[in-house]
Amino acid sequence: MDNVIVVASGKGGTGKSTVCICLSAALVKQGKKVLLIDCDSGMRGLDIMLDIEQDILFDASDAVCGNCAFGEAVYRSRHIQNLYLMAAPFDAENELSPPVFRQLVDSIKHNFDYVIIDSPAGIGSGFVTAAAPADRAVIVTNAEPTSVRGGVKVRKKLEALGINNIRLIINRFDKKMFKKLHFYDDLDAVIDAAQTRLIAVVPFDYAISVIMQRGAAGLESSPALEVFDRVTDRLQGVRTPLLIR
Ligand SMILES: Nc1ncnc2c1ncn2[C@@H]1O[C@H](COP(=O)(O)OP(=O)(O)O)[C@@H](O)[C@H]1O
Ligand SMILES: [Mg+2]
Repeated sequence: MDNVIVVASGKGGTGKSTVCICLSAALVKQGKKVLLIDCDSGMRGLDIMLDIEQDILFDASDAVCGNCAFGEAVYRSRHIQNLYLMAAPFDAENELSPPVFRQLVDSIKHNFDYVIIDSPAGIGSGFVTAAAPADRAVIVTNAEPTSVRGGVKVRKKLEALGINNIRLIINRFDKKMFKKLHFYDDLDAVIDAAQTRLIAVVPFDYAISVIMQRGAAGLESSPALEVFDRVTDRLQGVRTPLLIR
């Protein structure tokens, strides 16, 4: 199975957590059973976005410390059938080490078609832990030089960790603003600078923010979410044209 995917970025706020949920929701729509693991220790947020904040009694650190069975730290999402969450440790000091996290994922991944891992920004210890069990990676960037350079750093670090199947998502893309700001001549220039193969350009979309903050993923659709139906195909090697809004 090469279906353990880490979602990463150099800079914070590029949209990793949002992408994790949209991607997982799209995979579920295709009939897949998906485990989402929040690996942003101390800064977890997927439990809120999936509307199960109040349900979480045990997180990944409880599972490895023996406070609960592994399965007891896996929660059903409220509104998306077949999407499950393992929450990150609430406190940053409970961050797992890379080998421990890899062992945890290795022992539960066979129950799912895909495991999607949300990582903290940057290439620090939390990122290295998040990437440890991954077969492949998705880098999320915005079409801005600092964000793109951060993405290149992450790609290099992923490769150093032995992960070579890496794809790029350009998120929060606003065509008019992109032309006006002219940080890059065109999208090809962003992809060239990012040095990574593209699988999606996700539009800037206020609705997606509202959906995520309200924990309404799975209840409402929006332009950003629709793009992900094609991402899943491209992720699985099916040649589908990009949808650029
Ligand atoms: N495509 C998008 N359009 C508009 N806002 C977005 C989009 N993707 C993410 N956001 C918003 O950007 C902010 C950061 O997103 P988040 O997923 O938390 O990023 P990260 O996990 O990388 O820190 C949030 O307010 C989120 O709602
Ligand atoms: Mg996040």
